[in-house]
Amino acid sequence: MVTLLCGHKLRPGPLAAVCRQVPSRPGNHINWFVNRGWIIDLVKQPLPVFAGHAPGTKGRSPIEAVSGPERRHTTKTITPWQGRLQITVSSTPPPSSPIPAAGGFGHADATESSRANRLWWDFDADNYHREHSRFLGADQPEGKFLWSPEYFDEADHHLLGDVRDKDVLEFGCGSAPCSRWLNHTGVGTITAFDISAGMLRHGVDASTGTPVVPLVQADALAMPFKDNCFDVAFTAYGAIGFVADSQQLMHEAARVLRPGGRLVFSVLHPFRWVFRDEPGEEGLIAYLSYFDRSPYIERDPVTRTITYAEHHRTIGDRIRELLAAGFILDDFIEPEWPDNLEESFNQFSPTRGRIIPGTAIIVAHLPD
Ligand SMILES: C[S@@+](CC[C@H](N)C(=O)[O-])C[C@H]1O[C@@H](n2cnc3c(N)ncnc32)[C@H](O)[C@@H]1O
Repeated sequence: MVTLLCGHKLRPGPLAAVCRQVPSRPGNHINWFVNRGWIIDLVKQPLPVFAGHAPGTKGRSPIEAVSGPERRHTTKTITPWQGRLQITVSSTPPPSSPIPAAGGFGHADATESSRANRLWWDFDADNYHREHSRFLGADQPEGKFLWSPEYFDEADHHLLGDVRDKDVLEFGCGSAPCSRWLNHTGVGTITAFDISAGMLRHGVDASTGTPVVPLVQADALAMPFKDNCFDVAFTAYGAIGFVADSQQLMHEAARVLRPGGRLVFSVLHPFRWVFRDEPGEEGLIAYLSYFDRSPYIERDPVTRTITYAEHHRTIGDRIRELLAAGFILDDFIEPEWPDNLEESFNQFSPTRGRIIPGTAIIVAHLPD
């Protein structure tokens, strides 16, 4: 018997099992198995693995245990950022109903969260762009501007208004597909920033070796811009859900915007927090309190430093933070899952999207 990752007891035994990556928030990959009644036989981790996780296997994308005999007797070796991680679980079948994950929620301050997410997104950038290349328009210098996995398209909805003579800022831009799209369709000026150099690197045009739009590496909690220098600030799923102090982020947005400036952002719909990040039916079973604001965190199993953090706010919190920063709320949009959309995006799937909201888009402005 050895004690390994997460302090769980690991028992030698027959090998059988399988690891397939699927989205799921609670618990890291070891917890995922253990909480479902699996006995871990072996975890090989010859080199320190970044964050203690293999690519795409952080809490939101851990490994899916086999649920049927047809997938047993396979072992997958995952090649992480550094080193290799091999997980093998026993053939003990998982129970039929999901059991709430034991861990994964705790405390992460602003510095810990920013550091963890910078490293995480650096690490996951290639994977993210490979997996979602069509959605992100990853190979299109002219970009693509979707607010959410429901394909809520700026081209159809014009949430930013007419920006042809506006100074626009995108925060948490990733590879800036949205800014590239604005640049292509017409914008006064555009500036995009993100905390992760790995994500920003994907915004560089491979043929010219230069960014299509100006890219800055910065933390949204300390925007490196003067007061009153933008007319519009926005993000599609960037930064807000990852910072410990989203109130501070709202203050920063208000500071860099001019009077009358517009703020638009999409975030994970707060209602989703109570469910597992699973695209299937088990992602429809509520298991967490909507009112518990403890962030979901992952730690390096050796150093115990936080390697991933995601923060929850209720709908009321989001609105109060906006108002406290001086914004006037214009709209709170909950995009519906389109009838003809069969494409899933991690935990966002037709199965769930037709029943529960996935995204919240907030439109606000500062008084003149
Ligand atoms: C889900 S991705 C969305 C990226 C981009 N908006 C898109 O649509 O592809 C979240 C992004 O938020 C960024 N991020 C996380 N914490 C941040 C922070 N404190 N400041 C700025 N960006 C941050 C991550 O680096 C990542 O690129």
